[in-house]
Amino acid sequence: MHQDIKEILLTEDQIQNIVKDLAAQLTRDYAGKDPVFVGVLKGVVIFFGDMMKHIDIPCQMDFMWISSYGHGTTSGQMVLKRDVSEDLTGRHVVILEDIFDTGNSLQFTYEHLLSKNPASLKICTLLDKPERRRAGVTVQADYTGRVIPNEFVVGYGLDYAEHYRNLPYIGILKPEVYEK
Ligand code: IMP
Ligand code: MG
Repeated sequence: MHQDIKEILLTEDQIQNIVKDLAAQLTRDYAGKDPVFVGVLKGVVIFFGDMMKHIDIPCQMDFMWISSYGHGTTSGQMVLKRDVSEDLTGRHVVILEDIFDTGNSLQFTYEHLLSKNPASLKICTLLDKPERRRAGVTVQADYTGRVIPNEFVVGYGLDYAEHYRNLPYIGILKPEVYEK
């Protein structure tokens, strides 16, 4: 285990079981709909790749890149850094996210994609920290991998200051790492 990790929250095996279960639900619900899966960069990359290997129907992939002005473990005002490249008009779109925290990112992403007039728009998130939800966030996840406690987690794509994304598991970061 990495020296900055306090505790492993989800092992590689646990993550893979969650991914297979979510992918099976999407495979069933989107059969015959040729959905577009939109990943929100960068945190989603590893989850996205693993999901695609288990989604067993014709589909397309697209990405948007957003970031917030906030630094460290807080998130602030959202900025669109890169939009999707496909025309989503009349398409069945599923947003894939790494973590649903305050909800600022998903609220922004959802409203942005809804303005492109998709036939349907749903949200699939690997992790959910409901205790952190900001008042005024109205979006909800349609597919949730795992509800987690209010701890700052890294690994499997999730970062702190752009590090730890490459850890194969999801772990709780030692508070002294971000408090110093
Ligand atoms: P929200 O906008 O506050 O819901 O946060 C969503 C984004 O904040 C995620 O896509 C992550 O990039 C980041 N984030 C929120 N919580 C965590 C965490 O525990 N670890 C790492 N990144 C997080
Ligand atoms: Mg981040």
